[in-house]
Parts: sequence; C-alpha cells; structure tokens
Amino acid sequence: MAVLTRPFVPEDAEACGAIVAITPLWQRYKLTAAAAAAQLIAAHARGETVTVIESDSQVAGFAWVVPAGAFGMCPYLRRIVVAPDQRGLRLGAQLLRAVEEHSAKLATDLFLLVSDFNADAQRFYKREGYEEVGRLADFVLPGVAELIFRKRVRAVPT
Ligand SMILES: CC(C)(COP(=O)(O)OP(=O)(O)OC[C@H]1O[C@@H](n2cnc3c(N)ncnc32)[C@H](O)[C@@H]1OP(=O)(O)O)[C@@H](O)C(=O)NCCC(=O)NCCS
Repeated sequence: MAVLTRPFVPEDAEACGAIVAITPLWQRYKLTAAAAAAQLIAAHARGETVTVIESDSQVAGFAWVVPAGAFGMCPYLRRIVVAPDQRGLRLGAQLLRAVEEHSAKLATDLFLLVSDFNADAQRFYKREGYEEVGRLADFVLPGVAELIFRKRVRAVPT
C-alpha cells in the first residue's frame, strides 16, 4: 500500500465529498456529498489548509484546518475523515501527524470538536494525545454536545 499526504486541489472535491456522504456521522448532520465538496473548494479558495491522503493513488481521506479557527489564535481541525474501507490502517494517524506538523508552525495548540456520541473518534484522538477541555451542549444538533479537544503541538518556551 503506497500512502502519501499532499495538498488538496479542487479536482479532489468530488472524491472527498463522496467519502463524507457515506459516513454515518455526517449523515446525522445531514451533510451531502455536494455540500461537503463545495465547502472544501470554498475553504481552499480562502487559503485554509486541506490535506489529502492517498492510498495507491486513490483519495482515501482528508483533513481540513482553519488556521486561526480557534479563538482567532490557534488552528481548528474542522474535519478529518478516512474512507470507510480504509479505516483502522493508521491513515487517520498519518493525516493527523501532517496536520499537527503544519499547525505547530502556526501556534502552540490545535483544537477540534468531536460529537459526544462519536466514541470511536474520541478514542482515536485520546490515543493521539488530545485531551477534552470543554463541551458545547446543543451547539450544532439539539441534544448533542460537541466536545472540545486540544493538543499542544509545539513546546512553549518557559
Ligand atoms: C476517526 C478516523 C479519521 C480515524 O482514521 P483511521 O484511519 O481509521 O484511524 P487509525 O487507523 O489511525 O486509528 C484507528 C482508530 O480510529 C478509531 N476509529 C474510528 N472509527 C473507526 C472505524 N470505523 N474503524 C476503525 N477504527 C476507527 C478507533 O479509535 C481506532 O482505534 P482502535 O483500534 O482503538 O479501535 C476515521 O475512523 C474516520 O474517518 N471516522 C469517521 C469520521 C469521524 O469520526 N471523523 C472525526 C470527526 S471529529
């Protein structure tokens, strides 16, 4: 399996949108393939950072970071996903590593939100060194809390 991470190009949008649309998490948030693809094209045009992971030359997932999306100070990982048939192969960890290396050039911390019901992703993030620092009840969906996760990606000089 040949795996590489690279910057998103608009031609990736359709494949990325399709991965989002077949993921039950975002079906619950009513996010369609077309809307997810349009979000990525717009984010890319605004200069936000979208990183694609390829496996054997096929788009296998992506991560989208808003550079000062957390409090106007720190990068915010807005979305990360790996195609369902490629999960559990450490592609997500590799994608996260690329995001963290990029984020460390911008600020000391990286933030993300994860749904309270998404236990698999919470386990994934905790194993990758993230800690829960807060929760936003009813923030996106009624009855669902978005947990705020944070990782220090660059040492702070003392
Ligand atoms: C979370 C996600 C990006 C991780 O990518 P990945 O390539 O599967 O992750 P890795 O192989 O590096 O690590 C595997 C870990 O991911 C988590 N995971 C989440 N969903 C999983 C799935 N369907 N299959 C396997 N692992 C999954 C588990 O914690 C797993 O660890 P475990 O072995 O302790 O169960 C990916 O599973 C995914 O796209 N999930 C659906 C979308 C999502 O929840 N995104 C995060 C929103 S905040």
